[in-house]
Amino acid sequence: MDEKTAQERIDSVEWYHEFDFGNGLRAVPRTPPDAGHRRIWAFIEEQLSRIEFRGKSVLDIGCWDGYWSFLAERRGATRVLATDDVSQNWAAGKGIHVAKELLRSAIEVRQNVSVYDLASLNERFDVILFLGVWYHLFDPFYALAQIRHCCHANTVVLMEGSVATELGRQEALYNFADHNCEFLPEPDAFRQLVRGAYFTETASAFLDPPDPPGRLGWRWRLRLCREALRGSREGIRALQTPRLRTDNRRMFLTCSPFAGRNELHAYRPPFGLAAYDERFGEALPGEPRR
Ligand SMILES: C[S@@+](CC[C@H](N)C(=O)[O-])C[C@H]1O[C@@H](n2cnc3c(N)ncnc32)[C@H](O)[C@@H]1O
Repeated sequence: MDEKTAQERIDSVEWYHEFDFGNGLRAVPRTPPDAGHRRIWAFIEEQLSRIEFRGKSVLDIGCWDGYWSFLAERRGATRVLATDDVSQNWAAGKGIHVAKELLRSAIEVRQNVSVYDLASLNERFDVILFLGVWYHLFDPFYALAQIRHCCHANTVVLMEGSVATELGRQEALYNFADHNCEFLPEPDAFRQLVRGAYFTETASAFLDPPDPPGRLGWRWRLRLCREALRGSREGIRALQTPRLRTDNRRMFLTCSPFAGRNELHAYRPPFGLAAYDERFGEALPGEPRR
């Protein structure tokens, strides 16, 4: 394929990610790759630089154009399964196929796999990428349970997404009408879901670190001072409404699965999670009772 034809093929796609395919061939995202997206991608890339991909099997959940699947492959993963539910985004799912061809990649692409159906893959992976997805979910706990079913004892699960650090502890917001962010948890609220799904957090990082617990955020204070200096009662009132406590920052968690007593579950947990807790001694579908 000559370069002109290749660029025309690239331009026929509605891209979410930004790719430089070399030889001047570039994928330009539909949403301008403003500082916001680029900062998030740089943050994720920095976190992933600490992860060993060589020789690993990788599951990428909600892969869209496959940017992180290709990175895992480049970094030496031997099997990469890039999954998505294409009905859940505004592109038609073409980008990953064009990118795969141009990058001469061998990743496997399955675009009809919802995070809610992952257990039906019936496969365990060494590394699982769950990046930029949780805040789009209507049922994040069920999704985490499905991810848990794709883990063996040494799986590393990497989760990234939006959190609101100025909500009260363990609070979360749902707004199904907001298609940029349907579910926005405070960091510890999300951590509790993670723990409840039989994962241990081994590391965490924030794109913009939150203020220490118990203090009002410095950004909020700064805005309040600015409104006070302007003498704007309206501005002050607006800052004091709960809506404005919902700042949206990015959190990256590194997690490993565990099996054993989970202090969050006094009673039998749902969604097949009882299989990981010796008190309930249940089996995963298709496995012998423990
Ligand atoms: C913001 S994009 C993130 C893309 C990529 N993972 C990244 O971090 O750059 C959200 C992705 O989640 C996918 N998604 C949303 N709901 C999903 C679901 N229920 N099951 C699987 N994927 C889902 C969307 O199709 C889209 O690919």
